[in-house]
Amino acid sequence: MRAVEVGHDVVGYDVDESRVKRLASGESYVEDVPGDVVASALGSGRYVPTSDAGALAGFDVAVITVPTPLREGNPDLSYIEASAVTLGGHLRPGATVVLESTTYPGTTEELLGPLLEQTSGLAAGGDFLLGYSPERIDPGNPSWGLRNTPKVVSGIDARSLEAVEAFYGSLVERTVPVSSPKEAELAKLLENTFRHVNIALVNEIAMFAGDLGIDVWETIDAAATKPFGFLRFTPGPGVGGHCLPIDPSYLSWRVRRRLGHSFRFVELANDVNDHMPDYVVKRLMVALNRRRLPLNGSRVLVLGLAYKKNSSDDRESPATVLTERLLGLGAIVHAADPHVVEGHVDARVVRVDVTAAEVAAADAVVVLTDHDAFDYDAVAAARYVLDTRHRLPAAPNVEHL
Ligand SMILES: NC(=O)c1ccc[n+]([C@@H]2O[C@H](COP(=O)([O-])OP(=O)(O)OC[C@H]3O[C@@H](n4cnc5c(N)ncnc54)[C@H](O)[C@@H]3O)[C@@H](O)[C@H]2O)c1
Repeated sequence: MRAVEVGHDVVGYDVDESRVKRLASGESYVEDVPGDVVASALGSGRYVPTSDAGALAGFDVAVITVPTPLREGNPDLSYIEASAVTLGGHLRPGATVVLESTTYPGTTEELLGPLLEQTSGLAAGGDFLLGYSPERIDPGNPSWGLRNTPKVVSGIDARSLEAVEAFYGSLVERTVPVSSPKEAELAKLLENTFRHVNIALVNEIAMFAGDLGIDVWETIDAAATKPFGFLRFTPGPGVGGHCLPIDPSYLSWRVRRRLGHSFRFVELANDVNDHMPDYVVKRLMVALNRRRLPLNGSRVLVLGLAYKKNSSDDRESPATVLTERLLGLGAIVHAADPHVVEGHVDARVVRVDVTAAEVAAADAVVVLTDHDAFDYDAVAAARYVLDTRHRLPAAPNVEHL
């Protein structure tokens, strides 16, 4: 949308025809992009969403933003490979290709470049220009968007870097050039691994602080008053989305593959963060046990299925694991999330709205994602609440993670 806004002619190519249809009718499936922005882009005549690869003919710059998931713990680069084959057929001398998908260092130069060369018969660097620029979108962030977030840019040689920097320079306020795609690829993984590790750190502290009878939230607030050398991270029921549970594993996979040893911080952080849904189940069991209730047969109301506040994204959400565990232990699980319409949740989960009656009927309520849309006054009236996000004030019936 930004490229259209600054005057480029943009083809939005996607193999998913239903997404293309929605875009072509002026509907946005991305929460941060309002439908009227898509509609006005269409109206400008400079934006064409399509599933027809023929529309790629004659491109000057191609930006690849396809998924990079894990398959059985290993990086799945098949989407990047497929886009390289599609693009290669339309590559002309002088054109620029930029990869934005998050991936391990070396992908641009060792996988994408050679594939583009094979399919186009042209030489990377000599004929066409190639680079990597990581995406840094934080969905729902009101202060930092595409334009004002510095964009790291790279190229396989000086001409490529110049072309990549010129393109992004037309879209964002500040570009940050680095010396090769590997530094740019690693920078993205460093950013995400940094968050992953720090979240694991506070999660582990939360677990033992709870056992020691110490309020971890107050502890974090106190530490965060230090004006230097500390960054505030908060505990939660586990990490979700398509970044944190996945990206650090791209890096540890690469380290193991290339150097033969483990990236211990990532493995430890995975271990701690993956354990959080089980810890939440344990806390619920202990709380119900105090009231002589087994989890088996108890009714648990889960608030929030998305992994992130005010978002509809439930990819890799800890809610999926948590609801499965609860069902496996015989709990009756009701769940509320006004943002997640379909979602990845088990069919046995009863989808409800947060009402006084629903809260009153629950033996326990667990706040997993503190969407603003929930009625927290109603929630506070529950018999017992486990609040994993510290949204509710402390009360005899409210426990925090
Ligand atoms: N969404 C974010 O906030 C964000 C932030 C940082 C990094 N990333 C990275 O960006 C990449 C994409 O993430 P996303 O959230 O946009 O994923 P997404 O699944 O929402 O979108 C990817 C799109 O690519 C399409 N696609 C798949 N194969 C294709 C092909 N061969 N040709 C054309 N289109 C194809 C899919 O149909 C899908 O619509 C990932 O590597 C992710 O880690 C995303």
